[in-house]
Amino acid sequence: MNINGNILVTGGAGFIGANFIHYLFEQTDFTGLVINVDKLTYAGNLENLSDISQKYDDRYRFHQIDICNYEAMDVIFTKYQPQVIVHFAAESHVDRSIHGPKEFIETNIIGTFNLLELARKHWQDRQDVLFHHISTDEVYGSLGETGYFYEDTPYDPRSPYSSSKASSDHLVSAYFHTYKLPVTISNCSNNYGPYQFPEKLIPLMISNMLEDKNLPVYGDGRNIRDWLYVEDHCSGIWKIIQNGRRGETYNIGGENEWENIKLLHVLCELVARKSGKDLNKILDLITYVKDRAGHDRRYAINCDKIKNELGWTQSVDFSQGLEKTVEWYLANTEWIENIKTGEYQKWIDKNYSNE
Ligand code: NAD
Ligand code: DAU
Repeated sequence: MNINGNILVTGGAGFIGANFIHYLFEQTDFTGLVINVDKLTYAGNLENLSDISQKYDDRYRFHQIDICNYEAMDVIFTKYQPQVIVHFAAESHVDRSIHGPKEFIETNIIGTFNLLELARKHWQDRQDVLFHHISTDEVYGSLGETGYFYEDTPYDPRSPYSSSKASSDHLVSAYFHTYKLPVTISNCSNNYGPYQFPEKLIPLMISNMLEDKNLPVYGDGRNIRDWLYVEDHCSGIWKIIQNGRRGETYNIGGENEWENIKLLHVLCELVARKSGKDLNKILDLITYVKDRAGHDRRYAINCDKIKNELGWTQSVDFSQGLEKTVEWYLANTEWIENIKTGEYQKWIDKNYSNE
């Protein structure tokens, strides 16, 4: 598809959304306006985009809006007439969905429904437009020791988070089949890289190592995740937007499975080497804690479809990617500090003070 209009990004102040906006400006030939709509929840951080808003102020717009607010979003659609919507905005953390699912239902389901309705209203029968929905491999459930998630693996979500994402995926597909709305969906594995909120495994562990805090490993530490460097996720999304078949789902993954505890050991060595901290002292911080409720055992993505159809492939190997990530967090301790003195810390104090 020839993209000569505007791109509306939802959730652009979060981890992947901010990386995607950087990717659009810095690594593609897109020349239109990028409109970032974000509610700025605890996870949204405009610091992630301070360089973009300065350098590209003629082509970048930000609006603090809740995607559940239909009227406010209607104004955005009318004002900018986006050609492409890239929908990242979501409540994204599994642990939070266990503590309080309501916001996940509101943002992930109702918010997505609102955007679909607005796209239908504003685009009508246009086919030179696209609603790209960002989703997760967690919708497929949990794997045993073997096997992979394919695009046609039946959905079997286990957490309030993954159920809400599964629900939104179904709505997006339904709008394609029922109303011929041009849509694509990507289901991606665990991302890591700069700007990831320090509640997720990798940034949480790095930040705790730097502060000599315990490194909490859930259960036996042998759950497996498939890790992908965030920029590779962004390049996959961009390929789908340009050439993905409408109505299709594409899996994106790292083909890079790690048991949590093994990954943590690699991370400990890396942080010790890069920060000059004593490795044994860091390793002593590893603490096995109560398992996450309904903790999915293993995720593993088969991403042959996007590779074969769209020529996408991962470009950053895990050791390079982890090294870049650790270096970024070491160089941006103030970014972590700013987060920890705000809403995030209040939530942690309220929910984890007794654990
Ligand atoms: P994040 O939590 O870092 O960012 C989410 C962003 O959405 C934040 O900026 C937040 O303020 C915004 N937001 C939340 N509710 C909103 C609302 N009601 N209205 C407007 N904005 C709102 O999440 P992330 O890790 O960047 O994930 C982005 C998307 O990618 C999500 O849809 C998530 O399900 C999906 N995903 C994430 C991963 C991963 O490993 N992080 C992997 C696969 C898919
Ligand atoms: O698979 C894609 C998903 O990856 C995304 O859809 C989610 O938005 C994203 O948060 C991520 O979900 P996970 O639950 O896999 O990520 P998290 O970083 O929370 O946990 C990764 C693994 O590490 C998981 O097995 C739980 C474990 N863990 C996590 C934390 C935060 C720990 O052992 N200790 C911890 O403190």
